[in-house]
Amino acid sequence: MRSPLLTLPKAELHIHIEGSLEPEMMVALAQRNGITLPYESVEAVRAAYQFENLQSFLDLYYAGAQVLQSEQDFYDLTWAYLQKCAAQGVRHTEIFFDPQTHSDRGIPFEVVHSGITQALLDARVQLGVSSALILCFLRHLSAEAAMATLEQALPYRGSIIAVGLDSSELGHPPSKFQAVFDRARAEGFLTVAHAGEEGPSEYIWEAIRLLKVSRIDHGVRCVEDPALVDYLAEHQIPLTVCPLSNIKLCVFDEMAQHNLKHLLDLGLCVTVNSDDPAYFGGYLAENFEAAELALGLTSEHLVQLATNSFKASFLPSTEQQSYLQELSAYN
Ligand code: ADE
Ligand code: ZN
Repeated sequence: MRSPLLTLPKAELHIHIEGSLEPEMMVALAQRNGITLPYESVEAVRAAYQFENLQSFLDLYYAGAQVLQSEQDFYDLTWAYLQKCAAQGVRHTEIFFDPQTHSDRGIPFEVVHSGITQALLDARVQLGVSSALILCFLRHLSAEAAMATLEQALPYRGSIIAVGLDSSELGHPPSKFQAVFDRARAEGFLTVAHAGEEGPSEYIWEAIRLLKVSRIDHGVRCVEDPALVDYLAEHQIPLTVCPLSNIKLCVFDEMAQHNLKHLLDLGLCVTVNSDDPAYFGGYLAENFEAAELALGLTSEHLVQLATNSFKASFLPSTEQQSYLQELSAYN
């Protein structure tokens, strides 16, 4: 790893905390909680991470998340990720969590939320990493289930900045969740949504027009609609692009074919993110490095990506400005 990639100040805006569950921790938590995994070793877990599309990944990801049971488990998971942030120059992170993955197997919202938020608070003080929390609805489940999850989250509103939409994209358009997102915005949450990862560019339009999102998660299929590309550029709607994820899930055949540099050169507010780092082969710095090497990104591109990450964040503008000031020294 080139050390400038580790020290460049940056924000991460697209990370599923359940996707930072490393095989070593999966095995350790299974032992701690008396769960038998269908794998014989850490190496066997890692060897199973061969995916042909989003669904084949999600099947393993939801199975793996079952080892997470206690508040301490969620704390340990989150703390391990935040230590990675500190080691890689990630000054601020906006973390997704999937409460339905846990409530549907009897783990209360409160347990998940308090484990994660305690780690976020400790990281602020001990590691100097700031954060925000985004609650994602699982789009393969019903809109009614999402609404019930939103209602469960209302008492924790002060510690959850936004709601998002993840899981199986095809067949579950943003329009399915319009009423839930209307309610979420009325309750004071910002909104984001995964769109245009495997799904068509029309899903990106729906996320913008119907869910009124502040950012699009992934969004790489926007290039199929030139009018959409123009709109994203004109309104500087950020895309939280995840290079290693897109290769692992076969959105692009190889990194040299990824459209990240093309989108940047078109003037879109592109950011780089890790998505599910334990499953896709790297954290934020590894994503920067993979894109840099395969696409020939220049140091200007890298600084632009870091700049975009703070501008696209939900940090107050005074805090954004101080990071941008720091980054101006890199130009
Ligand atoms: N949940 C975790 N990672 C995801 C991804 N890349 N797309 C949709 N849902 C997800
Ligand atoms: Zn994602």
